[in-house]
Amino acid sequence: MKVAVVGATGEVGRKIVDELSDLNLKDLDLYASKKSEGEILEYNDRELVVKELKEESMKKEYDYVLFSAGGDISSRFAPIAADSGSVVIDNSSAFRMEKEIPLVVPEINSHKLKGYGGIIANPNCSTIQMLLALNNVQRELKIEEINVSTYQAVSGAGNKGIQELISQEKGHKVSKHFEKEIHRNVIPKIGDYEENGFTTEEMKMVNETIKIYEDDEIIVIPTAVRVPVVYGHSESITFKTKKSTNIQLVEDLIANSENVVFNNEIITPLEIENDKMTYVSRLRQLNERTFLIWVMANNVRVGAATNAVRIMKKHIEINGVDL
Ligand SMILES: NC(=O)c1ccc[n+]([C@@H]2O[C@H](COP(=O)([O-])OP(=O)(O)OC[C@H]3O[C@@H](n4cnc5c(N)ncnc54)[C@H](OP(=O)(O)O)[C@@H]3O)[C@@H](O)[C@H]2O)c1
Repeated sequence: MKVAVVGATGEVGRKIVDELSDLNLKDLDLYASKKSEGEILEYNDRELVVKELKEESMKKEYDYVLFSAGGDISSRFAPIAADSGSVVIDNSSAFRMEKEIPLVVPEINSHKLKGYGGIIANPNCSTIQMLLALNNVQRELKIEEINVSTYQAVSGAGNKGIQELISQEKGHKVSKHFEKEIHRNVIPKIGDYEENGFTTEEMKMVNETIKIYEDDEIIVIPTAVRVPVVYGHSESITFKTKKSTNIQLVEDLIANSENVVFNNEIITPLEIENDKMTYVSRLRQLNERTFLIWVMANNVRVGAATNAVRIMKKHIEINGVDL
């Protein structure tokens, strides 16, 4: 099987390469910008040389090409790869809301992968962990409304986000990538404002939830906030079910959700730096339809690389692709 990773030197790309280890691929090509040409990345016991991404490179037929180099690169190169017969899994937001493009969290809607070739979109990081946590609740009880506030790590803005926090910790006061200083601070705006006053990041959570849950009625009320954490997004969620229920049933549904850990102990981002699970805690009940939870996951893993590689593995399994 031939696989390529575009954006292999980035925060998400490096984790994708790591998550492909168990497949022990013989044919794995790594691409990034010209600046990284010749850089060596380890893959199992081999050293792979990073190549500069060019249109020609995407005309080779790969079985899978995983993109994590931003929306502009995906918009330009992913259609070339798909037209050349490769299945593309894209981490950017470039194709997510296109009607014909499946937006997939495998634990929720893997049926979208059956018999499908072409571009598959990986959802927004905050959306993935929220929907994984609520997956069984939505299936069994249907959710009327989700009210969510996020506490998003600086790595959500890529490696430059981490470097900005580190540099401010050392006393350099320059803010280039975040609108305000992020060190010892909290910024209640991620992305640009849309006409309705919500930000682009918040509207991703609204629109992607509807598409992934295939539920036009579900209401999502988000506030997206950047915090000075390196890895790990946290979310405070209040949700209202359509059917009346009780706290024990809600706990059982969450605890039995695939790749979700329910735990009443407090877990913090520092403890899940390399983790592939979504953690749910602090379950509380307001009334027979309203509950509160705290949800946490590693944004570059669960919110990007892990979900992308899970999509690839599920696509292989469902469609019987030869390894
Ligand atoms: N970080 C997250 O939590 C997260 C979560 C979900 C989705 N995503 C999405 O994943 C993508 C990557 O994010 P990231 O956090 O990994 O960003 P990052 O750390 O900034 O890495 C960006 C990657 O893109 C490559 N790149 C930049 N310009 C390029 C060009 N002209 N040609 C080829 N490659 C180029 C970079 O290569 P060089 O090293 O050579 O510059 C690097 O490998 C983005 O679309 C982002 O929205 C990120």
